[in-house]
Amino acid sequence: MLYPEEIIEEVRLRNDIVDVVSGYIKLERKGKSYFGLCPFHNEKSPSFCVEPTKQFFYCFGCNKGGSVIQFIMNIEHLEFVDALKFLADRAGIQLPEPEDSNEREKAKIRKDILEINREAARFFYSFLAGSEGLKAQAYLKSRGLAEGTIRQFGLGLSPNGWSTLTDHLLSKGASSDLLLASGLSVKSKNGGLIDRFRNRIMFPIFDIRGNVIGFGGRVIDGSGPKYVNSPDTPVYDKSRELYGLNFARKSKSKRLLLLEGYMDVISLHQAGIDYAVASLGTALTQMQAWILKKYSEEIIIAYDADSAGQRATLRGLDILEKAGCNVRVLIIPQGKDPDEYVRNYGPEKFKNLIEGAISLLDYKIRVRKNMHNLDTVEDKLKLLNSIADILAAHDNQIERELYSKSYAEQYGISLEALQSEIMKRMRGRQVPENKRVDTAAVNLPRIDKRYGESEYMLLVMLCNENRLYPKVVSQYGIDSFMDEGAKKIAKRLYEKLERDNSCVIAELVNGLEPALASYLVHLAETKCNVEDVEKAVLHLLNRLEILKLEDLQKDTIEKIKNETDGIKRQELGLEFSHRAARIAQLKKMSN
Ligand code: CTP
Ligand code: MN
Repeated sequence: MLYPEEIIEEVRLRNDIVDVVSGYIKLERKGKSYFGLCPFHNEKSPSFCVEPTKQFFYCFGCNKGGSVIQFIMNIEHLEFVDALKFLADRAGIQLPEPEDSNEREKAKIRKDILEINREAARFFYSFLAGSEGLKAQAYLKSRGLAEGTIRQFGLGLSPNGWSTLTDHLLSKGASSDLLLASGLSVKSKNGGLIDRFRNRIMFPIFDIRGNVIGFGGRVIDGSGPKYVNSPDTPVYDKSRELYGLNFARKSKSKRLLLLEGYMDVISLHQAGIDYAVASLGTALTQMQAWILKKYSEEIIIAYDADSAGQRATLRGLDILEKAGCNVRVLIIPQGKDPDEYVRNYGPEKFKNLIEGAISLLDYKIRVRKNMHNLDTVEDKLKLLNSIADILAAHDNQIERELYSKSYAEQYGISLEALQSEIMKRMRGRQVPENKRVDTAAVNLPRIDKRYGESEYMLLVMLCNENRLYPKVVSQYGIDSFMDEGAKKIAKRLYEKLERDNSCVIAELVNGLEPALASYLVHLAETKCNVEDVEKAVLHLLNRLEILKLEDLQKDTIEKIKNETDGIKRQELGLEFSHRAARIAQLKKMSN
């Protein structure tokens, strides 16, 4: 392990799992536990559980579970060390420098890329301001951008030559490897390095801390693709960044306005709507949805009104809904994009559009309605079916009823017919949803068929009731463990119990790979959730002893088969029957 156990535990303790999880999904208290919609699989009713007293999470639907560390690993797609850093940051804990030279190497590369990116951004910015940037300046002016906006967003211009930036950075001492790793340069056909971005308006992309993590480059004079973007690099992962979030997160507004383009974001910020962000030229990802949720109470989505935009909106809505976001859809009249609209009609009009943004259900139905013209009976029927589909999938009962009434009226269909269609669909849906719970244990670690489960259960029980340690260790020491994985964990647990007299499940699973952590928490929530822990432990110890004795019996049978000496055979037979009696006795005790 890279960090001492005490530090890992310190990080865990200072990050309350209910707080952390609440930053991603909505939790509701039910008895001693909290429940919410699982972020790790698709579900309509909550089976994701957080135990405040035990400080672990577990999903009864998909079986993922673990401490706050595994939660962050899963939800942020981070390796253990990065999850630890993430949580240490969150709690204001300073981690010691990692010993691992590999990690240090990676950190160094990231730091170097950020530095070279910043240098490139400066270079593009000055190039735009210089004499060769006049045409680009005029273009930006024609798009309505003010000096201050260009400065705020750090816009620039890449030179038209083949390797102007590359040469500049090389002369500053950057290595070719670094230039390639940053994505600023690419290999040309003859093996030399050339600039990725040539003669383009440059949009630096910032992370929330203001580091330059990548670039988008837009054509000015219509040749080549409209945008060239940085590839994913060690500092840039398009699936988790949002353009403009570094500014938007500082806005007073509790909203975020989700747009499609760089220009839209910039234009709206300039108009004073400083909570606009955009995903980076790709479809919205689940990760971005969680990030949006983290920084806002409500999300207004304003994609283009064309059919591609409509499809993207619907997809985005589903993803945002799944992340538990409050979402509304902003409709821009006359198929304009947000940038054009705000420039033509001004910020006030745009704010009116925000106020008038419609609910998710309204939007979905509106899209369906636009697909049919409602003149024929057939079309009406199709619309009725679509509405029923959409409402049946909506899991708020009250809203379902309110909307049923309003749509029935609006589209001239009978309320009874609509409601019965909805009911039909909801009944149909129950089945797979219940079934999913049995598909448990998909990702379980490989465990010993005979001993694994009992041995892991013993460890979990021991965490539930630390005072049973002397009893357990005297009967089932480290060497007794047959399952290799359980043995390793037992070693750590026994050591901890010797040293501190205490260890809880969440602490035990710190640092375990996610599948194994899930398995332990799964046992804790299902098979080990018992009133009388002591009795259960005695039972387990019995069961394990029986297994061992049965293994010995098998051996003895083999020996008897191969033994030619009559006396020895008799001795073995005696041994066998003594053991059989003991097994019978143990089995009786267990009942
Ligand atoms: N995009 C991209 N590659 C393309 C086209 C678009 O990466 N070939 C991404 C960019 O992030 C762009 C966003 O998709 O900002 C939206 O595209 P579009 O609306 O075409 O671009 P705008 O930024 O709005 O540019 P403009 O207003 O100048 O047309
Ligand atoms: Mn545009």
